[in-house]
Amino acid sequence: MERLQKVIAQSGYCSRRKAEEYIIQGKVKVNGKVTDILGTKVHSNDTIEINGTVLEKEEHVYYVMNKPKGCVCTSRDELGRKTVLDYMPSEKRIYPVGRLDFDTSGVLFLTNDGDFANKMIHPRYHLPKTYIVNLQGILKDEDIKQLRRGLKGAHEKYLPAKVYLFDTDEGRDRCRFELTITEGKNHQVKNMMELLGYKVRRLHRKKVGFVEVEDLKPGQYRRLKPYEIKKLMAMSMQGETK
Ligand code: URA
Repeated sequence: MERLQKVIAQSGYCSRRKAEEYIIQGKVKVNGKVTDILGTKVHSNDTIEINGTVLEKEEHVYYVMNKPKGCVCTSRDELGRKTVLDYMPSEKRIYPVGRLDFDTSGVLFLTNDGDFANKMIHPRYHLPKTYIVNLQGILKDEDIKQLRRGLKGAHEKYLPAKVYLFDTDEGRDRCRFELTITEGKNHQVKNMMELLGYKVRRLHRKKVGFVEVEDLKPGQYRRLKPYEIKKLMAMSMQGETK
């Protein structure tokens, strides 16, 4: 027996959080009866219906892609731009886990498991994400200290980050550094740099948790291995703020 919200999230219908909302709103039926109590346990052969749609029991799939720049992380784009799903097999309903910007490349997971997706991206799980930042300007010692202490803007706060500056080009007034954050808020890296008065020239996500894509060309992907899925889930559970 599993909790209803977990089963819904695992089916890929929506995130666990969204499933909880649907349950509380009385939009979920189990074997034909409205079930609006969070934590209700269901059996694998129970029939679950949300907003009138019967949940199909889908086998979960997990991929990691080296996202190329020049495509969006949505299933469809209003502007007709290429999406990451254009690089994938189309027989399964999968979606990108979180968003990398159009011009950002690197590690991107894709799955149909809503619970896995939530654990990889929700800031409360603090799964580390490492970026290679190519910056216009050269980070000053004081900026690095601020990044390590955590940043505060008018509307946002960012937790302490790890910074490793490995390349400076005084002539062209540029630098490159590794930045590891543990949240993953919208446009977080660019916003953090803007708070410090810099512009990001190029952004590549090198690592999520411990998973890298050095062996994949831009646009290539592979299945995550069972031990990788397990380890990523364990890392996110360890980092969870209760
Ligand atoms: N931070 C950003 O600003 N953009 C990304 O694509 C990822 C993290």
